[in-house]
Amino acid sequence: MSAEPTSFPVCRLGMNIGRILTLGVFLTASACAKPPQIPLGVGGGPGPASIALPTNLVELVAKADVQKGGALYVSKGCKACHTLTEAQLVGPGLRGVTTRRELTWVARMILRPDVMVKVDPEAKRLFQAMVAPMANQNVAAETELPAILAYLKSL
Ligand code: HEC
Repeated sequence: MSAEPTSFPVCRLGMNIGRILTLGVFLTASACAKPPQIPLGVGGGPGPASIALPTNLVELVAKADVQKGGALYVSKGCKACHTLTEAQLVGPGLRGVTTRRELTWVARMILRPDVMVKVDPEAKRLFQAMVAPMANQNVAAETELPAILAYLKSL
């Protein structure tokens, strides 16, 4: 009988331990990659007036370039924390956010998330449910915000 190394009981044990370790690493990795999914938030009202918005925001969004918004979504790093579906990553999935919430609320969240989580009750609630806060992305209110909003509306 030819003695292949893997036919020794000790080798089989080694292989099994290897499989168990691989499975363990896999399970840990998938558990870490998927944070608990929190139901998508609705409402929130207009948001605090202390975060100034362009007075003609609706008009600016209507005229804004959706493709520019998509490019800003990537260059401003939104992609690192949000999906374009309803699936949560670090923050909530963004598809439909402009219909779930008022446009001004979404605009204020994009401009000053740091202020929103301190003064706006709905943003506070959202922040408490998430693992990490949204960082300020230095979005320009007049030139960049309308394009990002137009992009989110198009999803
Ligand atoms: C570091 C991760 C991170 C980055 C980068 C980030 N966000 Fe967020 N975002 C979050 C988290 C987390 C929340 C939930 C509120 C909180 O915990 O601060 C959130 C909330 C939001 C909300 C409200 C979502 C809802 O369902 O109410 C919008 C809209 C949003 N982000 C848009 C953006 C846009 C646009 C960008 C890029 C300019 C961006 N975010 C960049 C993490 C991030």
